[in-house]
Amino acid sequence: MASIADFFSGQHRACDLVFEDMEDAVGSADWPRATELYQQLSRDTLQHFSNEEEGLFPLFEDKTGMQAGPTQVMRGEHAELRELLQRLGEAVESRDQDAVLGTGETFFLFLQQHNVKEEQVLYPMADQVLQDSLGELAQRVAGFPAGD
Ligand SMILES: [Fe+2]
Ligand SMILES: [Fe+2]
Repeated sequence: MASIADFFSGQHRACDLVFEDMEDAVGSADWPRATELYQQLSRDTLQHFSNEEEGLFPLFEDKTGMQAGPTQVMRGEHAELRELLQRLGEAVESRDQDAVLGTGETFFLFLQQHNVKEEQVLYPMADQVLQDSLGELAQRVAGFPAGD
């Protein structure tokens, strides 16, 4: 049986690795590589947020009737994280090493706190309540394993 926690936590790990590679590239002032890695980080992170906001969260909200619960908090944090990601991109574009590392640290810490809440609370709850909705989730989220 496909696991929501495994799939979505795996996307967190993948984004973390790209972020770390980007920091390394910035540390060695390899700006073309840093730019490429930032673009990958941005694309993957925004895709993951969409997977949650348009796939996982609506199904969770429908099933539990909790519209103003944890998913609303997570949506609010996504908005803040999108802003930080944008600022990080501007720092990369201007090749400002201090700004990239400073904004990057703020972004990454906030992202880790956000991810922990999802991994420890939301995803396990979703795995419990959405066992009958995994096929629908697979239709909304690219790459989510359909069927079992
Ligand atoms: Fe999230
Ligand atoms: Fe997430």
